[in-house]
Amino acid sequence: MEILIRPDVNAVAQKAADILEYYARRGKTLGLATGSTPNPTYQELIRRHKDEGLSFADCRAFLLDEYYGLPRDHEQSYYSTIRREFTSHIDIDDALVKSPDGTNPDYQAAVEQYDQAIIDAGGVDIQILGVGTNGHIGFNEPSSSLNSLTRIKTLHPQTVADNARFFDSEADVPRHVLTQGLGTIQRARHLMLLATGEGKADAVQALAEGPLSAMCPASILQWHRHATVIVDEAAASKLVNTEYYRYTDANKPEGQPH
Ligand code: F6R
Repeated sequence: MEILIRPDVNAVAQKAADILEYYARRGKTLGLATGSTPNPTYQELIRRHKDEGLSFADCRAFLLDEYYGLPRDHEQSYYSTIRREFTSHIDIDDALVKSPDGTNPDYQAAVEQYDQAIIDAGGVDIQILGVGTNGHIGFNEPSSSLNSLTRIKTLHPQTVADNARFFDSEADVPRHVLTQGLGTIQRARHLMLLATGEGKADAVQALAEGPLSAMCPASILQWHRHATVIVDEAAASKLVNTEYYRYTDANKPEGQPH
């Protein structure tokens, strides 16, 4: 796992956008996350699209997760959120921006179709991840099976509280979600986790330096062949091995892409 520490949110977004640009230029399949953390990265990619002609026309995209039971046109559905924050501002084909169907009454069919759609597309080349304060990725809450596939999950009360800021009240936050499993996420060829702010410092320390454990679902990055963690100084503040991370960042072998 490569850990890149950057001074602030903007520098994290620049580095993440550099990596995503590499994949976009090759027409690769992007795994997208919602939540607040990737938004500065999305804004930078939109800027590069508008100012520098960066094209996503040959890309397709898969979202990590979706609230269950929320209509797609609800402003907090992830279907709507990703379009508002990112994909409607670039030239990706909207029909190729896929998310789990949280409106399908047969959720088992919905999750199986979603995993199959990812396989049929040839898999995800780069998966963007945020991390919950409790260590979740996607909506794989602590104790999630390390090899799980896309499925329905009940949100942890901490996540309901964390996400209440997007809704009128905590009572309005859906309790169920369809989320790519930890096994699904690990099939992506490159995982890129972003974390910013002091509130993520414990989760970052646990995922990078704690044990590989279902109690910290993000720790599966330790098991992945190609994982990049990009954090700002605040989110890095509880890491122990920082001298080595900074050293390897500064002494990357020539020609090694991302
Ligand atoms: C969102 C997702 C979640 C978020 C996580 C962090 O698609 O899968 O795991 O990445 O809850 O959310 P923020 O970035 O809002 O702190």
